[in-house]
Amino acid sequence: ELGEFNHYMQKEMFEQPQALGNTLEMLSGAGQLHPGIFGADAQGVFEQVDSVLILACGTSSYAGMTAKYWIEQVAGIPCNVEIASEYRYRVSVPNPNQLVVVISQSGETADTLAALQHAKALGHPHTLAICNVPESAIVRETALRFITRAGPEIGVASTKAFTTQLAALFLLTLLLAKGKQRLLEADEKDYLDELRHLPIAVEKVLALEPSIQAWSQQFANKHHALFLGRGRHFPVALEGALKLKEISYIHAEAYPAGELKHGPLALVDAEMPVVVVAPNDEMLEKLKANMQEVSARGGQLYVFADGDSKVRSTDGVKVLAMPEHYGLLSPVLHVVALQLLSYHVALVKGTDVDKPRNLAKSVTVE
Ligand code: F6R
Repeated sequence: ELGEFNHYMQKEMFEQPQALGNTLEMLSGAGQLHPGIFGADAQGVFEQVDSVLILACGTSSYAGMTAKYWIEQVAGIPCNVEIASEYRYRVSVPNPNQLVVVISQSGETADTLAALQHAKALGHPHTLAICNVPESAIVRETALRFITRAGPEIGVASTKAFTTQLAALFLLTLLLAKGKQRLLEADEKDYLDELRHLPIAVEKVLALEPSIQAWSQQFANKHHALFLGRGRHFPVALEGALKLKEISYIHAEAYPAGELKHGPLALVDAEMPVVVVAPNDEMLEKLKANMQEVSARGGQLYVFADGDSKVRSTDGVKVLAMPEHYGLLSPVLHVVALQLLSYHVALVKGTDVDKPRNLAKSVTVE
């Protein structure tokens, strides 16, 4: 079943172009975007709701955090993301005009399912699932749903499920924006073209594997790593750190880079590699200043930039450029690079990549 690959995780990373193409199949050829992809009643709901609440666990929650940036920027409605196991046990203020979105690869995660049931019990009528398993418990309990077509994900560390969730969430963003009359026709066309091109763009990131592998040796003998990102790439940094923790057992933390001097800078020395997600976006200049702070303390920087980010490799600063500059969808490309990094670090360490210790693929107990 593994074919040319050594692990399911590797196979699943390399299946991402196909998984994205399948998930976005409705856009192939001259296909257009229609709210019906989320269910027959979706259009009315998207016009009616005044905000979004996203509930999920782990990697799926980071997809939700990325979507928060998209939804508030493009659709112009408030979006909050909450860890399902927190939401289900706290006293919250329900808003019946809110769209409750649950994100889950398996559709069986106990905390996410319970959070959904909790939201419904509080009187939230509008629920939507983004899920990779059509007949799962979570899908059966929501009014609207979108099934990602990642195919079965066997590796415990989520990869293709995450990027297809992002694609689904971007479709949701566009449809919410349309429902709110916030999407110009020309912008919609550009976004749809970018989505259609995404599989090819991801393919090019996967081709960076040898260069990323070359970095892995320098992480494998470290005990800690720090991941930095800003804006819509902060969730990517979180996901990069989670991947590294899970499969290489290296302690990794992610911070929005602006928080460095509020604490974590104290940890920085030559023994802690600092990974930076540095696309050429509106936060790049700020991020460069943050990188300076790290360099000045002897920190070793591993920078995932864009071709046009103009970050130079020097002593203590290694730079790898993404093949394409990708605007709002850039998190989808950058996360693939971080998946490859964690995979290769784990290989050097010799851990069980597909079945990391203490973890289960589907967490059906709380
Ligand atoms: C990390 C990972 C987990 C899951 C989490 C939620 O690689 O796979 O953090 O994302 O357990 O699982 P689902 O998406 O099935 O609800």
